[in-house]
Amino acid sequence: MKKILFVASEAVPFIKTGGLADVVGSLPKSIDSEYFDVRVILPKYACIKQEWKERMQYITHFHIDYNWNSTYVGVFELIEDGVHYYFIDNEYYFHQDQPYTDDIRWDIERFAYFSKAALSVLPDIDFCPDLVHCHDWQTGLVPAFLKEQFVANPFYSHMKTVFTIHNLKFQGRWGTWDVKNMTGLPDRVFDEEYGANLLRAGLLYGDAITTVSDTYAEEIKTQYYGEGMDGILRMRSGDLRGIVNGIDYTDFNPESDPLIVKNYDQSTFRKDKSKNKRALQRELGLPVDEKKMMIGIVSRLTDQKGMDLIACVLDELCADEIQLVVLGTGEERYENMFRHFAWKYGDKVAANICYSEALSHKVYASCDAFLMPSLFEPCGLSQLMSLRYGTLPIVRETGGLKDTVEPYNEYESKGTGFSFTNYNAHEMLGVIRYAQHVFYDKKREWNKMVDRAMKADFSWKNSAKKYQEMYDWLIG
Ligand code: ADP
Ligand code: GLC
Repeated sequence: MKKILFVASEAVPFIKTGGLADVVGSLPKSIDSEYFDVRVILPKYACIKQEWKERMQYITHFHIDYNWNSTYVGVFELIEDGVHYYFIDNEYYFHQDQPYTDDIRWDIERFAYFSKAALSVLPDIDFCPDLVHCHDWQTGLVPAFLKEQFVANPFYSHMKTVFTIHNLKFQGRWGTWDVKNMTGLPDRVFDEEYGANLLRAGLLYGDAITTVSDTYAEEIKTQYYGEGMDGILRMRSGDLRGIVNGIDYTDFNPESDPLIVKNYDQSTFRKDKSKNKRALQRELGLPVDEKKMMIGIVSRLTDQKGMDLIACVLDELCADEIQLVVLGTGEERYENMFRHFAWKYGDKVAANICYSEALSHKVYASCDAFLMPSLFEPCGLSQLMSLRYGTLPIVRETGGLKDTVEPYNEYESKGTGFSFTNYNAHEMLGVIRYAQHVFYDKKREWNKMVDRAMKADFSWKNSAKKYQEMYDWLIG
């Protein structure tokens, strides 16, 4: 049995700020457990819900050398849905009410600690992985610690590493002197030009690099999308591949989802999907009218997600025969923008500036279309959730959006959504209006598209196989 350890800063159901948590929470369950023993290690944040913390079992504790101190490491474990999870306990580093803080230097100290602790616990929990799979900048130092500080110990010497980029924009950068001091890592891990950059360390030291779609794997080798890392990614392009994300087809299933008002499937969506729409209209105080096209947004409200395009044409869009339901949090200017438009166009816009799992499922199930005009998008899971619920995505052709949404072709009656190429607000508006035309004037075509969208398979089945092949190849 090959042993794989996932090291990550978030995972469903324990802690989530974005798609990373969905991936780390669902991919291990999809890896073939006859051949791979996949375990996951996470920080034991104080903000994890009490019900989970109560179920964690204390295993052991010890101290490691970190930041010129002998630093406490506690280890807890919990088995949930067949997956073995470990949690690193340290109140000083993880007592906050959010997994991440506004202070990047402090977050670097916290996650560099976590990365070193995650490797240090392995002999104590008697788990000796063949491969350590790290995710995003928070765990970028794991491959570096392994090769610089642990490799001399025979327990660690055979371990391979994979570093997965979920988002290249966040890198964990700080002054080299400071980070060298806290970690004890040598100069060569860092670089004069880049300073200490934890993501870059993962890119340099990982045996293989993956990202979450084929298109993003290509894009990040260019200067436009490379966030300063394109040179290294070109250098390592032989070790870099894209594997598109899946979603959990049990949690996201319109046929059985307990969070939605009326369950439906491919054969019943024509009559039952709109019952969800009516219920949501009632709940959010919008005019109840199942014939009105409802467009949903569930998103972090940031520049990455194309919010400035929406800002640019929202007044024009609100002149159309549509309803817009927004669920999101993020930059204050975008939160206020949606609040303002909900006030200005009370019968058209519903702004839910909050985080709500339950409401997100209702939006995926109730809307006709889902808007996601990202500036860049490593993969994107929201559009996959929308497809699963027969809610047609309107996306910009970038990263995973390009790889997962097939644009409508009216001549061949193909496609699962609508897309546009350039980062241009009126190009987006044009496509939204084209979608309105199909919705209002070609309902049969629209419904056939819903059918195709619900048939598309973005479960983990295919992608989990690709991860397994890569693990096999690396472990040998
Ligand atoms: P990213 O990770 O870049 O934020 P993804 O599309 O990969 O984007 O994943 C976003 C995840 O977070 C999805 O599961 C989406 O449903 C969820 N999400 C985003 N905002 C909210 C919110 N306000 N309430 C509930 N779920 C949200
Ligand atoms: C990041 C990306 C998103 C991706 C998610 C999971 O948050 O922004 O596109 O789907 O990670 O890989």
